Amino acid sequence: MKDSQSKGKSLTSKTQRSRRTLLAAMATAPLAVGLASSLGATTVAAGKSNGKVAIVTGSSRGIGAATAKRLARDGYAVTVNCVENTDLAAAVVEDIRASGGQATWLQADVSDPGAVEQLFDTCEESFGVVDVVVANAGIMHLDPIGEMSDEAFDRMWAVNGKGSFNTLREASRRVRDGGRIIALSSSITQFRTATYGPYAATKMAQDMFVSALAKELSGRRISVNAVAPGVVNTTLFTDGKTSQQIAGFADRTPHKRLGEPSDIADVVAALCKDDGYWINGQTVFANGGIV
Ligand SMILES: NC(=O)c1ccc[n+]([C@@H]2O[C@H](COP(=O)([O-])OP(=O)(O)OC[C@H]3O[C@@H](n4cnc5c(N)ncnc54)[C@H](OP(=O)(O)O)[C@@H]3O)[C@@H](O)[C@H]2O)c1
Repeated sequence: MKDSQSKGKSLTSKTQRSRRTLLAAMATAPLAVGLASSLGATTVAAGKSNGKVAIVTGSSRGIGAATAKRLARDGYAVTVNCVENTDLAAAVVEDIRASGGQATWLQADVSDPGAVEQLFDTCEESFGVVDVVVANAGIMHLDPIGEMSDEAFDRMWAVNGKGSFNTLREASRRVRDGGRIIALSSSITQFRTATYGPYAATKMAQDMFVSALAKELSGRRISVNAVAPGVVNTTLFTDGKTSQQIAGFADRTPHKRLGEPSDIADVVAALCKDDGYWINGQTVFANGGIV
């Protein structure tokens, strides 16, 4: 991860532009088709184009990948993003294309404002003005405050705090009037659990960002919300936990299972529909009832 981040930061804007073009071109390469099948990605049935355009940050896997595929199924042309796992981002794009949808991808570290600008540039060049932005990219480090390293704390704030800020700022400037902006918060803000403090604080920041931004975009018919999942079956949640711990979380959920990425993608998709317009400036807790 560090390699791709430091490379991105040291590139000149011309070099970055060439790299962006190269990466976008890679998304159309036959190799990417092979990757899609070798990874066993689930094929999604893309709907007819709705003429709209979406960016989902951190969409190479987990909730972001499910959201990109879901929005593609709803007819959006989607720009997929990753920081490290370019093969997975390409596979998501190929999966969408194989189902008749439109997608491209770009490796861009959301903690770098220039990289986020380029993500929006790539989207606009490929598909036109963006209608929906989902600031989903995130990382989690868990430790008691007394034991957390500066590096872990700083990186979490750089990606979850500044990265989301970079994405929302760019979205506020570029999303078409009538669009949607959604940030991924977390129900952990309600649990208030030991070792989760610094991570939960970065997620609480999302709640504050969206409520302020919703008001700042007054008059543009753009609804801005946070979606706060509970325990979702991705490596972000499962890594470092025993199977007993994971089963315990599933058992505490009234529906007796972990959330799946598609459960969260469905909620994001609902907010993007016309019927979701009146939900604005809110945090929507999508956690199966665990909190
Ligand atoms: N899973 C849960 O239980 C849960 C609960 C509440 C909230 N959330 C939130 O939901 C969001 C998605 O979580 P997840 O569980 O799907 O995580 P995940 O499976 O670990 O996926 C994280 C995604 O973010 C990308 N990413 C990480 N750092 C990035 C950066 N600096 N720039 C661009 N992309 C970056 C990753 O790209 P690479 O593949 O290239 O690394 C990957 O696509 C996060 O904001 C998380 O805080 C998750």
